[in-house]
Amino acid sequence: MNDFTEKLSFALQEMYNRAAVCDAGLLTPVAIDRGLTLLRNLDYPASLLDLLPQTSYERAFPLANPLTKIAAIAPTTILDLGCGTALDIFFCAHLLLDIEHLTGIDASAGLLNEGRKRLESFPAQAGKINLIESDLNFLDSLNLASFDLILMNGSFNLIYDKVSFLQTLSELLAANGTILIYDFLLTESLPPGFADEIDNWLWNIGGALDENELNEAISNAGFKLISIKELERIDPVARCEILIGKK
Ligand SMILES: C[S@@+](CC[C@H](N)C(=O)[O-])C[C@H]1O[C@@H](n2cnc3c(N)ncnc32)[C@H](O)[C@@H]1O
Repeated sequence: MNDFTEKLSFALQEMYNRAAVCDAGLLTPVAIDRGLTLLRNLDYPASLLDLLPQTSYERAFPLANPLTKIAAIAPTTILDLGCGTALDIFFCAHLLLDIEHLTGIDASAGLLNEGRKRLESFPAQAGKINLIESDLNFLDSLNLASFDLILMNGSFNLIYDKVSFLQTLSELLAANGTILIYDFLLTESLPPGFADEIDNWLWNIGGALDENELNEAISNAGFKLISIKELERIDPVARCEILIGKK
């Protein structure tokens, strides 16, 4: 792990562990939708949101609602990297009748504990879900099986060395598998030096790539880009759905 990656992992773990227990600190000045309002604005269906008490949604930080796309892909196994409280895989376990196994990985023990607490009331889903506390930069030490779908809903831009990270995913993705990423892509250049500041990475902007850089990283890691769908333009970034497969 290089020095920047180590400092970034530490800062992210501290921020998300704090987010798991209070709304103060780094989260206070950020004027973005939170909780149930965020999930409704991202079109998570009311029928799913009604399953849980409103307080269950306060620690959700998705970049988009992936459920329609995941249902269309119809995977039997899902690996959710940077799963937070594992809301997406909980909903997938509830919705997808053929789903066999779902694994969520996150570095925040606080957020994972929220997810584990939720599962205590849902034994059918709990039997299919495995939540692991780990840094995403050490996936190769976890001895994971391969998965039909690897989801990253808001965590790809938090990885510093994206090419070597994607190379690790190559071992974890089944032959016809799909990587589904929701994150920001750059529509304009960031100011010089912006990406050198750890703080600018914490909300997914400092680590954002433009479309050409993304294509290059994907190709250098041995994958092919299937599609990029722009969901929302907020210059200098666009919130995007990115689908990647094996070459
Ligand atoms: C924007 S949040 C998205 C959380 C979740 N996907 C959701 O929809 O609520 C980013 C997540 O990535 C996790 N994360 C960031 N960097 C990580 C790393 N290096 N290793 C493990 N988890 C990481 C954070 O703890 C946080 O839960």
